Amino acid sequence: MCGIVGYIGNKETKEVLYSGLSKLEYRGYDSAGISILSDDGLMKTFKSVGKLANLGGIIKDSEILGHVGIGHTRWATHGVPSTRNSHPHNSQDNKLSLVHNGIIENYAELREGLKNKGYKFLSDTDTEVIVHLLADNYTGDLVESVFKILPILDGAYAIGVISSEEPDVLVTARKGSPLVIGLGTDEKYIASDVPAILEYTDRVIFLEDGDVALLKKDEIKIWDLERNEKTTEETKIEWSLEAAEKGGYEHFTLKEIHEQPAVISETLKGKIKGDSAIIDEITLTEEELKNITKIHMVACGTSYHAALVGKYMIEQELRIPVEVEVASEFRYKNPIIAKTDLVILISQSGETADTLAGLREAKKSGAKAIGIINVMGSTISREADGTVYTNAGLEIGVASTKAFVSQLVALYILTLYLGEKKDILGVERRRYIIENLRKLPNIVDKILEIEDDIKEKASILDGVVSSIFIGRNINTAIAYEGALKLKEISYIHAEGYQSGELKHGPIALINEECPLIAIATKSDTYDKVKSNIEEVRARGGKVLTVATVGDVEIAEISDEVIYIPEIDELFSPVINVIPLQILSYYAAVNRGVDVDKPRNLAKSVTVE
Ligand code: F6R
Repeated sequence: MCGIVGYIGNKETKEVLYSGLSKLEYRGYDSAGISILSDDGLMKTFKSVGKLANLGGIIKDSEILGHVGIGHTRWATHGVPSTRNSHPHNSQDNKLSLVHNGIIENYAELREGLKNKGYKFLSDTDTEVIVHLLADNYTGDLVESVFKILPILDGAYAIGVISSEEPDVLVTARKGSPLVIGLGTDEKYIASDVPAILEYTDRVIFLEDGDVALLKKDEIKIWDLERNEKTTEETKIEWSLEAAEKGGYEHFTLKEIHEQPAVISETLKGKIKGDSAIIDEITLTEEELKNITKIHMVACGTSYHAALVGKYMIEQELRIPVEVEVASEFRYKNPIIAKTDLVILISQSGETADTLAGLREAKKSGAKAIGIINVMGSTISREADGTVYTNAGLEIGVASTKAFVSQLVALYILTLYLGEKKDILGVERRRYIIENLRKLPNIVDKILEIEDDIKEKASILDGVVSSIFIGRNINTAIAYEGALKLKEISYIHAEGYQSGELKHGPIALINEECPLIAIATKSDTYDKVKSNIEEVRARGGKVLTVATVGDVEIAEISDEVIYIPEIDELFSPVINVIPLQILSYYAAVNRGVDVDKPRNLAKSVTVE
């Protein structure tokens, strides 16, 4: 995890690097640093622990004139967050400076070898070995030296490196971590993600895994690891920078919660024609689609919860068995995957290391794999046999909100698509599903209108130490997601359970300081959930219930009720999650937590 930037050109390098890092802070905010090769030939490096603003304070008044530089925002993996562990890392003679996103797995052994050669390490990071290795192999030709050392490195990297001996050169390489190159007139940029450079250019090249690039102001050369020079395609980015701004909301998270009606429409856009779902990016043949007898869904965190909802959806509608697995487990469990199975990878970023490994595992077994991905051009979307893009736009809040809802919508679309291709869903049923999907933006809008009411009810979480979320069937995953949202942004401990499980243990936790948050909207199991709520009330527990408008009975057994519109249970996860997101948001605001950047978390987890 981490974000890197780099620049070569005639603008004020310090400003470009700082502005780029400010758009990448979501990738980690344990420390930040920049190196600029100043016009007097000296490598000038500035670092600071904590948020980027601390670095800003340090560099604000220093005049650093130079035309090539690199920057980094860190999410610690090896070595505690500290100034000395901040990137960039420099060679002992201070001629080379390097930033890195990823993990070098054989760093300990490389470090030993370098120490024996007399190299002194100033940090505890895995990254520092790269710069000393480079120094050890430096020939005066930076790109040549990078080629020499890359085969020695095990693990994942996106690097940016500069040398005081070659002031007109910026070298970058990637394997397993994302890297985009920005193209300008007489200037080039590198970054872990597009927003970092969008202010300056919308013309980009996405580096492929294993690529090495040499950037000069007016020249760019890209090779694969075998040193074959490549011609690469330039992409024009269509998003505006404004999309990366808060748009008047106090936090990106709240803005993103409010974007959800539009996001649902965006996800549907272009993918429904008449009574059919159209997914042009899926490259499976009709025959391959027909032959699918089992589905695996692989994802992490919130995306895993989307997969759990997807399982219910597909099993109910298509009667195809679906196994859902957390990606970090899937990759090491030697999964049983038949060639005719379909593996679905769900990931907002499309870069999550474990999910990417799941994709590679699937492909190794000869099965087809498709992604449900938000970030276009991301590694999973490029390696899969097709991608359903969720089109949620840039998600900046670390906690996933709109991306989750867009994943659910993409899963309905995929269900429709498979259902038709496999002759399982008739036209009437498809029409019914499409009609309901089209209703969702308005219903979500109605829930957003009662934001103030939910905000008030969030006071049920004031001063509590723990909480339990329950849901059932297709909404079990929404209980999990509600609990994850609450714990990650408010730091209140929360657990999600199948409501029937409550009496088998968790109910023991219920007391004044541990309320129950129940999803009890109209469903086939409504009465069962109601009984579970009563069991809690009988023991003096506090209850906040999400219920269907008009359900007066539920108010009698709840301390607080959030009423939301009625919809067929199949689609209810999309709307039930909205009040839980708002609840978590205000619980966090009430506690003064930095909602957009909760401690210890990062937006894109590109390490194992
Ligand atoms: C929670 C959250 C994480 C991500 C997880 C997977 O709010 O955002 O749990 O869902 O890290 O990330 P992606 O979807 O990018 O693979």
